[in-house]
Amino acid sequence: MTELTQERRLVTEIPGPKSRELFERRSKVVARGVSTTLPVFITRASGAILADVDGNQLIDFGSGIAVTSVGHADANVVRHASEQLAAFTHTCFMVTPYEAYVAVCEALAELTPGDHEKRSALFNSGAEAVENAVKIARAYTKRQAVVVFDHGYHGRTNLTMALTAKNQPYKDGFGPFAPEVYRVPMAYPFRWPTGPENCGPEALAQAISLIEKQVGAHNVAAVVIEPIQGEGGFIEPPAGFLPGLAAWCQAHGVVFVAGHWFAVDHEGAVPDLITAAKGIAGGLPLAAVTGRAEIMDAAGPGGLGGTYGGNPVACAAALGAIETMKSQDLVPRARAIGETMTSRLAKLAAANPALGEVRGRGAMIAVELVKPGTKEPDADLASAVAKKCHAEGLVVLTCGTYGNVLRFLPPLVISDALLDEGLSIIEGAFAVV
Ligand SMILES: Cc1ncc(COP(=O)(O)O)c(C=O)c1O
Repeated sequence: MTELTQERRLVTEIPGPKSRELFERRSKVVARGVSTTLPVFITRASGAILADVDGNQLIDFGSGIAVTSVGHADANVVRHASEQLAAFTHTCFMVTPYEAYVAVCEALAELTPGDHEKRSALFNSGAEAVENAVKIARAYTKRQAVVVFDHGYHGRTNLTMALTAKNQPYKDGFGPFAPEVYRVPMAYPFRWPTGPENCGPEALAQAISLIEKQVGAHNVAAVVIEPIQGEGGFIEPPAGFLPGLAAWCQAHGVVFVAGHWFAVDHEGAVPDLITAAKGIAGGLPLAAVTGRAEIMDAAGPGGLGGTYGGNPVACAAALGAIETMKSQDLVPRARAIGETMTSRLAKLAAANPALGEVRGRGAMIAVELVKPGTKEPDADLASAVAKKCHAEGLVVLTCGTYGNVLRFLPPLVISDALLDEGLSIIEGAFAVV
């Protein structure tokens, strides 16, 4: 199949008539609880471009919520996955194994932080990876309590709902939730009461004090944290917070569990267990828990796994995605994309007080919107800017506990021209809303 031209092209309004017709069909058969950000039906995608049923081409600053980091229909992902698809689609790794699963675990051992001996187990989704990390930590420590953070998001299964902070829309009406989950403050510099400069040490001290007083360190199996919170609003804890938590965990025999996205450097803090999902298989469902061999091996044979976990096609796709990350040197590219976005958005923020903060790391960049002169969240503005961008053929997402954060996650293969065009659309949207 020929690749799509890497250009935005609008031939109808967004969404176009065929998309609107499909959305009507969708409304009659798809559950309301499964929401849609932009009701445009996609027929093809490549690189940083999505093509829809009406013949429009949209620039993708969402990457399917941070998944297609190597670009849509990446050649290595397609080739590896297609070859695997033709060879066989499933045996269940727990019944009769195959090499691709082992190769993905070898790659994870090499790519994740720390030079200790590691083991991995593969799953289908981020939520499953987090659930399994908790199972493994409990089996290893023989303790039950799990500590999580304000604004955290960990998934929609029962345990991960309990770990997730935000009630609407993730938890409301879905309880009862799993027990032995304790929430402590997150180091959120923009909203820290005594100012961002005090946020790191004060948040760390508060978290540790709450854990020790309300739970007891000797009862804690795991501290689970997103190194940069995603759904919570791309909240980046100040330097020292993650290493401080890791050191406290080490001192008290607590398993430190952190997510890992390629190109994220955790200030040298080495998690005991690392969960990985999203972009690791270029869009196919795959997730992993990787960690210290002695902790990972605490779960007995048969205690981990699942029918589809580490599906061969998803594993082959992951090997393709990793090949592309390496061959196209996408880690420095992520940084360069982040610098371009941050500098343009910072200029916009200097001229428009509704942009309270521009933040993020690598190519995951966000702006938190507020009522000018205050820190009062402005979710309506975030939604209006996102809608205007969508109408112009740019896919952007919102997030944040208060719904007031615009987040940008372009595929790392995006051209400078498309990146600039997308940023101009965002600037234009702020000018008219
Ligand atoms: C930090 C984090 N953990 C867990 C999840 C849940 O992953 P999944 O939707 O694949 O279950 C997400 C998804 O957005 C996430 O951002």
